Amino acid sequence: MSEKLKALTLEEKYAPGFEGVPAARSAICFIDGEAGRLEYRGISAEDLATRSSFEETAYLLLFGKLPTRAEYSRWLHDLTTHRRIKYKLVDLIKCLPETGHPMDALQAVVAALGMFYPAKNVTDPEVQYWSCVRLIAKLPTIVAAFHRLRGGDDFIPPRDDLGMAANFLYMLSERVPEIEHIRALDAALILHAEHSMNASTFNGRVTASTLADPYRVVSSAIGALSGPLHGGANQDVIALLEEIGTLDRVKPVIEGKIERKAKIAGFGHRVYKVKDPRSFVLQKLGMELLGNAEGRHQNLYAVAAEVEKLMIEKVSHKGIYPNVDFYSGVLYMKLGVAADLFTPIFAMARVAGWLAHWLEQLKDNRIFRPEQIYVGERRVEFTTMDKRR
Ligand code: COA
Repeated sequence: MSEKLKALTLEEKYAPGFEGVPAARSAICFIDGEAGRLEYRGISAEDLATRSSFEETAYLLLFGKLPTRAEYSRWLHDLTTHRRIKYKLVDLIKCLPETGHPMDALQAVVAALGMFYPAKNVTDPEVQYWSCVRLIAKLPTIVAAFHRLRGGDDFIPPRDDLGMAANFLYMLSERVPEIEHIRALDAALILHAEHSMNASTFNGRVTASTLADPYRVVSSAIGALSGPLHGGANQDVIALLEEIGTLDRVKPVIEGKIERKAKIAGFGHRVYKVKDPRSFVLQKLGMELLGNAEGRHQNLYAVAAEVEKLMIEKVSHKGIYPNVDFYSGVLYMKLGVAADLFTPIFAMARVAGWLAHWLEQLKDNRIFRPEQIYVGERRVEFTTMDKRR
């Protein structure tokens, strides 16, 4: 800590929500919140979304460079051959309540996964590599298995001839998806793969700093991602659009919420003060997929565009614009994905970023131990039970 910082009082140092406080030196992700620019290892995320695959982007995030042909081939092979989950995990998933949220199931099963693959020596490069492979490869299988089994359907094993996005959609429906659907999901996964020191990543880094194993790092990050102020917002966006229902109700519903000072899901960001660059790409992908659609999806999309227009008119002076969650839900609905799987899909992508931060944290680790400003009482006398009120 610098001498200048040491000289400040705790009150002077205090920043609620750690706003503006750096928690690490990181070379993984760059965000310019004023210009709306997002880069992974220096490469524009929008560029990756149109020219890369999720698997290649995960490699870039984890190892700091794009893979050569040989490296990519080995990486794909390792990811593909580690998608399966043990039958005991399938049995565990069967025992979870079907009414439970898939994020809770994912968090529980990822924690259990660690019991099958002990990874205590977290600085061992072999442990690091295979933990990254297993976690990235198995998360989609866990999400799809929970979804199938809760509906009373058989679990569909992964197919080795499909890429990650295609295989995930296949494991949900037993149908090989159309190429446009695969491409759209792949791009969405790339755009969700990393986003610097957000709440779940910070949570993961805190857990990593204790030298806990990567399965615990990821399960704690999943817990943080599930909240409605973070990844949970994408599911809430669909609930909002459905609550609005028709174009004529956009104005009264949104204005009513703004008046009551309620937050509109899918808007606002701690870092971006302009429209989130990821939402441009997701909006375009949604528009392309919905071009020929009719009915419910088309209607939801039209309502979403109207909500954006009104929100810009009402709150853009505060720097509130659509974030990544606003258009992702409409896109996933078009792919036939259930609304409560939107946040688990976010986790399937963000696990690449969490693991990149896990590796980075371990390179120069110091356990996180911030201060607090104590505002409670002191030196209080113990009162016996009969005198308490
Ligand atoms: N709808 C309406 N107003 C919003 C808003 C939203 N989604 N997000 C922020 N605001 C307003 C706040 O009411 C506040 O206004 P005020 O200054 O008049 O009180 C101002 O903008 C600043 O908001 P604040 O909550 O302090 O920002 P934050 O940086 O702490 O929070 C989020 C960032 C993302 C948590 C917040 O924007 C939010 O809750 N968004 C909705 C959930 C969401 O989409 N999360 C996914 C993020 S990727």
